[in-house]
Amino acid sequence: MTPPNIAETTPQRTPATPTLLVEARGVAMRYGTGELTTGVLQGLNFAARGGEFVVIVGRSGSGKSTLLNLLGGMDQPLAGDIRVGQALLTAMNEEQRARFRRRAVGFVFQSFNLLPTLSVAENLALPLALNGLPGQQRIPQMLARLGLTERAGRYPNQLSGGEQQRVAIGRALIHTPPLVLADEPTGNLDEDTARQVTALLCEMIRETGSTLVMATHSSEPRALADRVLRLQQGQLQEER
Ligand SMILES: Nc1ncnc2c1ncn2[C@@H]1O[C@H](COP(=O)(O)OP(=O)(O)OP(=O)(O)O)[C@@H](O)[C@H]1O
Ligand SMILES: [Mg+2]
Repeated sequence: MTPPNIAETTPQRTPATPTLLVEARGVAMRYGTGELTTGVLQGLNFAARGGEFVVIVGRSGSGKSTLLNLLGGMDQPLAGDIRVGQALLTAMNEEQRARFRRRAVGFVFQSFNLLPTLSVAENLALPLALNGLPGQQRIPQMLARLGLTERAGRYPNQLSGGEQQRVAIGRALIHTPPLVLADEPTGNLDEDTARQVTALLCEMIRETGSTLVMATHSSEPRALADRVLRLQQGQLQEER
């Protein structure tokens, strides 16, 4: 797949393709051992199509982060299968999953997680370098798209929270991964900034055609999502 030229794509909403991109079947996950065991996911099923935006809601501790970590290949479930595109994550070893994550997944975290010793432009370039992908010329385009051209040479600690999260969004998308996972991406931002960051992330995944799975407590993203699912008692239910 040729990555779309970010500068040339328009922020119009492209309809989700009917192709299944992510599929989880009968997933079980628990933490701890013996009497201290916490059952988190129990026979959970999930599916998302290419280009779809799915919001996961649920009370604190219901297992949203646990689920995102499994979908992104950061962890292995106790039981069940997880597939992303052609990759059966649950049949992979650690090294294979690391390679899969690097290439196929973009992560956006609540706490931004930028590398403090790299500038904004260098943070954005990292996924391209790690994957041996060309495309350095995409950095100025991405900076412009994020409204951060003037901040290219700054370091993360010289940016506001909203600016840091915009860099993180750019970094998650620069290598056009098919899957983007966002865990409470606006949890550390004020209301106005949260709205802007949510809109930007949503627009950008519509441009790249990536599937976005977002865990959130905020109401804002629900209106923009194609589907909202609630995680409770270890399983997902359609909320709308
Ligand atoms: N590494 C871990 N070791 C032990 N227990 C864990 C670990 N990670 C999560 N848990 C437990 O698993 C449950 C689900 O946690 P998880 O972080 O997935 O919830 P969440 O829905 O993301 O919550 P929040 O909305 O507060 O972010 C919680 O009871 C939590 O204490
Ligand atoms: Mg969480």
